Amino acid sequence: MSSQDIPEENLPAERAADEHAHAHGDVSVAHEKDPFADPGLPPHEHRIQDIDERAAKRSERTVALLFTLSMLSTVGFIASFVTIPADRIVYIFPLGHISGLNFALGMTLGLALFCIGAGAVHWARTLMSDEEMTDERHAIAAEPEVKAKVLADFKQGAKESALGRRKLIRNTMFGALTLFPLSGIVLLRDLGPLPEDKLRHTLWSKGKLLVNMNTNEPLRPSDVAVGSLTFAKPEGLEEEDHEFQTEIAKAALMIVRLQPENIKDKRELEWSHEGIVAYSKICTHVGCPISLYEQQTHHVLCPCHQSTFDLADGARVIFGPAGHALPQLRIGVNDEGYLEAHGDFEEPVGPSFWERG
Ligand code: FES
Repeated sequence: MSSQDIPEENLPAERAADEHAHAHGDVSVAHEKDPFADPGLPPHEHRIQDIDERAAKRSERTVALLFTLSMLSTVGFIASFVTIPADRIVYIFPLGHISGLNFALGMTLGLALFCIGAGAVHWARTLMSDEEMTDERHAIAAEPEVKAKVLADFKQGAKESALGRRKLIRNTMFGALTLFPLSGIVLLRDLGPLPEDKLRHTLWSKGKLLVNMNTNEPLRPSDVAVGSLTFAKPEGLEEEDHEFQTEIAKAALMIVRLQPENIKDKRELEWSHEGIVAYSKICTHVGCPISLYEQQTHHVLCPCHQSTFDLADGARVIFGPAGHALPQLRIGVNDEGYLEAHGDFEEPVGPSFWERG
């Protein structure tokens, strides 16, 4: 805000004296609090663009050229992302052999940003208002009148920036600023394909044998002792498999043998075999593998945030942040006496965000 706009009687006494002295050409006033004389401002020099319309036009064209270059660079960024293979290696002096894709993305993105910045700076330095103003410090909370003044100044600034008059600059600037965010959008492609419903299914299906994770042997009921905790995986899933980690993260099982009379949940009893129950090993909080079993209470505990599940009561949550019970796998025994699944889990395994969908 220019001090020239404020009536002298509204200024603080010391400042009013300075303003008065300044207005009358006496800029050597020094007062007790500030022993240094105000040197005043040097005479204002007009820029060439202020007095020569042809120079102003040249500046306008330069700014428009920079914004246009930014747009072309953004288009180049997108084209590079789509067309250059990720494994293309190129020789660039003096960098040597580097990834062609990274080089192209870096150069085009950098140029797009630089041209927006350079265009804005050149515009401000050569074409926006060159009026010199003094702004005093104020209390942090502005008075309503000050806010109204700021708004008026803002509108004035918008008018002085000649956005309305210099349509070429305005249009190219909007073009550059609108196109630039597209660079971020195309990068989303790197997040990979959508999972679709893959997270809702596991490798378990009717007839799949339960294989001991440690011995890699199919389990018989006699292998599961009362009070023990056994970890199992689906038959056919081997550690060498490319997708092993992805699949075991969904299909890992905990197998426990309980006394049938201790099982409180009716469905749990129906889905078990001679007291052997199979539950997902993946905690329903944020997916840690559960590994601690307390045989006296039949509780299993997740070591990450201490969610505790009661395996004798449908694996419901009795403590901790987990949102719902562990999914149970319905099991039985095949003709050869091996434990087998009767299908996939009926609900998605893992974190409880599924229930919020
Ligand atoms: S992941 Fe199991 S309690 Fe948090």
